[in-house]
Amino acid sequence: MQDLAPLQAPAQALTVLGLESSCDESAAAIVRRHADGRIDVLADSVLSQDSAHAPYGGVVPEIAARAHVEVMDVLTRKVLSDAGLILADMDGFAATSGPGLVGGVMAALMTAKGLALGSGKPLLAINHLEGHALSPRLTGQVDFPYLLLLVSGGHTQLLIARDVGDYEKLGSTLDDAAGEAFDKTAKIMGLGFPGGPALERMAKTGDAARFDLPLPLARRGGCDFSFAGLKTAARQIWDGLENPDDRDRADLSASVQAMIARSLADRSARAMVAFRERFPDDAAPLSFVVAGGVAANSAVRDALNHAAMENGFQLIAPPSKWCTDNAAMIALAGVEHLARGETAGLDAPARARWPLDAASAKLNPTIGSGRKGPKA
Ligand code: KG4
Ligand code: ZN
Repeated sequence: MQDLAPLQAPAQALTVLGLESSCDESAAAIVRRHADGRIDVLADSVLSQDSAHAPYGGVVPEIAARAHVEVMDVLTRKVLSDAGLILADMDGFAATSGPGLVGGVMAALMTAKGLALGSGKPLLAINHLEGHALSPRLTGQVDFPYLLLLVSGGHTQLLIARDVGDYEKLGSTLDDAAGEAFDKTAKIMGLGFPGGPALERMAKTGDAARFDLPLPLARRGGCDFSFAGLKTAARQIWDGLENPDDRDRADLSASVQAMIARSLADRSARAMVAFRERFPDDAAPLSFVVAGGVAANSAVRDALNHAAMENGFQLIAPPSKWCTDNAAMIALAGVEHLARGETAGLDAPARARWPLDAASAKLNPTIGSGRKGPKA
């Protein structure tokens, strides 16, 4: 971002149109930040591409990119009309500029660049992960600092959110993201796409104690995650079943879901201890925010709630429409950066990988390649 003269306390309200296209949701939203920092979502629209990808059992980047391009202008018009505003009412245009599928990311980013260039208003190039990190602030005041667990199809990370633009990563997945673990085990059992919600439905009637699955990284300290071993163990159990039926599906779904929930809670509890060490003077309850599509899973929420209560934290989960990918969180990140005078140049690149915690990226020069990259 380019640093302009900081506008620490903007005298008037700022309104930003945000666009999102980094995975398989195309979205637009308009967010207003009042002079006192209060946030209003004036319009918010999301188009899911689930049906386009379902035949392939996963997101196909080329299909996603093309579908995003087709709807960016439609969504832009829709949110302007829903909010009863025109382009000239906007103070800036925000778009996710990474991390994500680059072909898709370009759809929102190029649209926002066009709008910024045409209107002479600033561009805000937003890190998608920062959007998720700030999403609890869409519904009300969640004060900094807070602990954040981001669990989606592309990311599984524990972060300390200190302020807008100031994040410290405590841990991330060494291989698959939690959502990927749900999706891949659902695929093994033929439950359809997207797998997470399908697996949760199946697990409702299952016996979580029937199959013995390993707790990931049971003997390893720290706040990192790993889900690839769990997926392999589930596949071996599935392949060993003779003519598996819906009872087997339900029991394996329940076992996998319980172990993912337990692992997320176990690593989050370690992060809560680390958070307390960083902020020993902050009064309980401290805030523990969970965001991302997997936060919609009730077994996961229950396990996280339990860990939070045991450690003097309060679990805060944004409503599910703002847990999954959306543009309100991108417009919010945009308006917050605009209020601080941090805008982007029109040469802002679309980035496949982009760590939220710049310090940890610098300390780890291998980051940016392989599964343990910032997208992980
Ligand atoms: O945040 P999100 O919408 O998109 C990104 O990946 O950024 O998260 C999607 C992920 C998918 O892996 C999906 O299977 C998972 O969240 N998910 C769930 C549930 N709902 C969505 N996983 C488990 N249980 C659910 N109810
Ligand atoms: Zn996301």
